[in-house]
Amino acid sequence: MEGGRHVYYVLSSREHLLRHFPKGGVGAEIGVAEGNYSAEILASADPKELHLIDPWSHLESGSDLLQARSLLSEVDTKRDRAETFEAPPANAPGDAKYAAVAARFQGDPRVRLHRQYSYKAAEAFEDGSFDFVYLDGNHHYEFVLRDLEDYAAKLKPGGLLFGHDFFEDTFAQKERYGVIDAVGAFVKRSDFCFVLLTWEPFSTFCLARRLDGFAGAFLRNVFESDVQMIEIPDALAGSYQDKMYERRNGSRKRIPSFMNSLQFQLG
Ligand SMILES: C[S@@+](CC[C@H](N)C(=O)[O-])C[C@H]1O[C@@H](n2cnc3c(N)ncnc32)[C@H](O)[C@@H]1O
Repeated sequence: MEGGRHVYYVLSSREHLLRHFPKGGVGAEIGVAEGNYSAEILASADPKELHLIDPWSHLESGSDLLQARSLLSEVDTKRDRAETFEAPPANAPGDAKYAAVAARFQGDPRVRLHRQYSYKAAEAFEDGSFDFVYLDGNHHYEFVLRDLEDYAAKLKPGGLLFGHDFFEDTFAQKERYGVIDAVGAFVKRSDFCFVLLTWEPFSTFCLARRLDGFAGAFLRNVFESDVQMIEIPDALAGSYQDKMYERRNGSRKRIPSFMNSLQFQLG
């Protein structure tokens, strides 16, 4: 990709970025939860079709973020971090969440719900189906890498692959998030390059393999807008982390950093 070894760090949020999406695209969101970001995509990007993919099972393999073990006592979610499932197990909290999302988007002809794990749902889509795919499902390394690989193949040549939680801090460490490492490995192994990284807690990354389609039109719209952007070498992206400065009054200030240096030592 032309000029691909850089990334634009944009002083914007994932919600604002959607305003710059070309309208009428075909998109997918992996990891939907209550559908809050889905609603933002529908309102701002006005896609022709939006596929919402989530098992809504309250079970995130390899993670106990949603207290899956207490809800599904027969499943040991820590058994194997890369364990995959054929289909979401039946469970009342998941059923209720799915029903709420179905009700929320009922009557919107653009929305297609897929109650399935991303790696299984991918099999149902033809290669080259999507203009954009947003990844926000299982955040562990193996799953993020697999989502990137599976859904890269499902993108049109100029499609945009973007996703949430490209950050490192004590929370990400505790939950063993692998987003930064998986995205780094994927960029190294594929013909995708970094396009944008957002300034916000739980930063969003954007990747593309070329800029002559949806991703290029999106980037052009960002250039045309008032969004402030900083061009940096993409080699820095892997060092991205949110450092927290603790003020004298006890409140915390987030300072995004591209340096693996010590935390603040201001005497
Ligand atoms: C952080 S939430 C998504 C939030 C949503 N994108 C938003 O911004 O409002 C993560 C979701 O990923 C789902 N999830 C976990 N593993 C998944 C998988 N393998 N495939 C698809 N979704 C998954 C969980 O069920 C959960 O609803």
